[in-house]
Amino acid sequence: MTAQLIDGKALAALKGQETAEQVEAFSRRTGIQPSLHVLLIGDHPPSYIYVKNKKKACDLVGIKSVVHQLPFGVSQEDVIRLIRLLNSQEDVHGVLVQLPLPEHLNAQEILETLDPKKDVDGLHPYNLGRLLMKKPLLVPCTPQGCLQLIMSVENNIQGKTAVVIGRSLLVGRSLGALLTNYDVTVTLAHSKTKDLKEISSKADILVAAIGSPEFITGDYIKEGAIVIDVGINRIFLKDGMSCLKGDVDFKEAKVIAGFITPVPGGVGPMTISNLLINTVKAAQLHMDNILYKS
Ligand code: GUN
Repeated sequence: MTAQLIDGKALAALKGQETAEQVEAFSRRTGIQPSLHVLLIGDHPPSYIYVKNKKKACDLVGIKSVVHQLPFGVSQEDVIRLIRLLNSQEDVHGVLVQLPLPEHLNAQEILETLDPKKDVDGLHPYNLGRLLMKKPLLVPCTPQGCLQLIMSVENNIQGKTAVVIGRSLLVGRSLGALLTNYDVTVTLAHSKTKDLKEISSKADILVAAIGSPEFITGDYIKEGAIVIDVGINRIFLKDGMSCLKGDVDFKEAKVIAGFITPVPGGVGPMTISNLLINTVKAAQLHMDNILYKS
């Protein structure tokens, strides 16, 4: 058996067209261009690339984007002050703090300072709480992207079993809650899970968000399963070149799985696609707030 590829790049392009239409309709209706402000702190090389890609995607659909580049040594107080300022500005609709942050900064306090209605990453406790309550407002982008990829090949996921490996807030925990809201039976596995191979090889849906290149070999996968690879690991080769590898050993997985996402071109484009969707939603929430108040 050879797995069918789940093309995240194509799905994201399709969703990008829809978002561009929504941006245009919103701007026509309100006279306002949706805007996203990104805080890029320090000098973490992958973050530079991610933020550059986010900016490019905003340009493509007509969202205004502003990057606030702050030095590695910026103080907690200065970051909080900037977020409070962005919270108060009428023409700022979405705010994203690119992670990871330098160790001296308290990410939790920074994320909690953000206005939940501008929290396009969906990581504020208010948004995570709403997700748990099955009343989502702004949903974290990567989990939402994983769900869309799964549902692009299997519309009826009710009652299916999923094993999500990785319990970060950014991906695993949030995806566990999201899939549960769709009546999937979820096992949230992690580095301390015993018998991981046995558990994951029974799952209809397997999501790998581990951060370890090619960790998931063929024997972790059930025949015909949907495999979603969230990992993006840069591997440096002897000749000075580098390449990207997922958390799944693609060669082994593709002869066992029914459907599989590639790296790159799987989950990554969907994360960005959902950031754009959330930014338009945040702009709409902002307008609703103004109309509601007046
Ligand atoms: N770093 C890696 N992925 C993400 C993401 O989706 N959002 C933020 N804020 N930081 C990240």
